[in-house]
Amino acid sequence: MRKLVLLSRKGGTGKTTLSVNLAVAALREGLGVSIVDLDLQGSATAWAAGRKNAAPDVRPANGGTLFPVANAAERAGRDLLIIDTPAGGDAISGAAIRLADLAILVCRPSYFDLAALVPAAQAVREAGKPGLIVLNQAPSRRAGQESPVIARAVEAARALGFPIAPVGLRARVAFQESLWRGLGVLEFEPRSPAAAEIGRLWSEVADTLWPDRVEHRGAAE
Ligand SMILES: Nc1ncnc2c1ncn2[C@@H]1O[C@H](COP(=O)(O)OP(=O)(O)O)[C@@H](O)[C@H]1O
Ligand SMILES: [Mg+2]
Repeated sequence: MRKLVLLSRKGGTGKTTLSVNLAVAALREGLGVSIVDLDLQGSATAWAAGRKNAAPDVRPANGGTLFPVANAAERAGRDLLIIDTPAGGDAISGAAIRLADLAILVCRPSYFDLAALVPAAQAVREAGKPGLIVLNQAPSRRAGQESPVIARAVEAARALGFPIAPVGLRARVAFQESLWRGLGVLEFEPRSPAAAEIGRLWSEVADTLWPDRVEHRGAAE
């Protein structure tokens, strides 16, 4: 079982949105997926409760139950564990980082988000874990031009010393609409730009978690 943690010290960056959407992407490839919801707000748990399809199973947990819950998912034969963390919560996020095979650092392209990402990136580095920075809720292009905030965010993100996912996610209504129905964007609007973004991000994440996957794809091409 591979383990993915989504991190940012700030709330509202998109940790839970990415957790549930990456879970759905993995499910659609036939993987067994569990989400550990470490946030007392229980957003991922609420999303699952509104979902008609049973999987993925979402388990609320805290610092004391993170390891037993992860072990139970492993024993149940899951392929992927996604750990959704709360804002702040350095101790609990630290435990999740130590458990994880890959940490996704989520931030909006804003000065405050990037400043708040510095200690999260440091925690991942100190744990010796691979990290991937994902820019979420980026503004759309206007008249074919990227907003200057994106270039600035990419520059600041580079200084954190982790790769930046080649595909960021834009602020899109589909990411919000789908949550009301307990769906991921891939289920809600499979042909939408939001679904394309999640599909590409999932590929990037899966290639990192299962390096063999890249070789298999290469052989098939
Ligand atoms: N790419 C996006 N486009 C539009 N809305 C988004 C996007 N990502 C997240 N949101 C919205 O932003 C809010 C915060 O996202 P959430 O995933 O709950 O963040 P976090 O878990 O980091 O606190 C939610 O209302 C969510 O629907
Ligand atoms: Mg959340």
